[in-house]
Amino acid sequence: MRKKIVAGNWKMNLNLQEGVALATELKAALAADKPNCDVVICTPFIHLATVAGITEGTVIGLGAENCADKEKGAYTGEVSAAQVKSTGAQYVILGHSERRAYYGETPEILKEKVNLALANGLKVIFCIGEVLEEREAGKQNEVVGGQLADSLFDLTDEQFANIILAYEPVWAIGTGKTATAEQAQDMHEFIRGVIAGRFGEAAAENVSILYGGSCKPSNAKEIFSKPDVDGGLIGGAALKCADFKGIIDAWKD
Ligand code: PGA
Repeated sequence: MRKKIVAGNWKMNLNLQEGVALATELKAALAADKPNCDVVICTPFIHLATVAGITEGTVIGLGAENCADKEKGAYTGEVSAAQVKSTGAQYVILGHSERRAYYGETPEILKEKVNLALANGLKVIFCIGEVLEEREAGKQNEVVGGQLADSLFDLTDEQFANIILAYEPVWAIGTGKTATAEQAQDMHEFIRGVIAGRFGEAAAENVSILYGGSCKPSNAKEIFSKPDVDGGLIGGAALKCADFKGIIDAWKD
């Protein structure tokens, strides 16, 4: 059975003290009311080691939002997958549309990052999604299929077992404009088919596919009710404990 997951992506928000406060509040909220899904928070690098001390031994998993495409050495300002792992984090988000668009992350660079993350024992939350013009031109399947093929198709079956996919239509990220539950389901079903074609039916059945883009407590339940939607990657609504918890609770009856 594939996992249900709600993952937060803090992006470049919260200073260290604010991040510690949010993680501490979430820990208490989830200790008082156990989630029905896996919960992960992905934080800026500077929070990881400290937040790991808060989430250790709890239901909360911890991840980074990026890692370097090089193993180690003279790459000033970069943070390697091994360094992320050494903080106690278990996950890393790769391929987020903001990294692709603002930092020039190409499919080749992402391939390197994915390989290094997996080699260092991290699970990868790999993001894919089309921009508005591509959807308006009816090209969303072609774009997303290409993103999967370009960065993930060279993985072995064993490596692919540590991939979580996040479909994030770029036009829905931080815009308040959510994809409809039907649009999410259609794309997730397509993605599962692409994975089945490359890695086989069992791998496609087992991979968790998260939806991301203006997910909130008020729409999470409907989106998560779709058969191929296994949870969410949450940006803005992950910055307030009550909102994030509200989305986690969407998995409850
Ligand atoms: P959002 O961001 O929930 O603020 O739209 C989602 C994401 O970019 O992961």
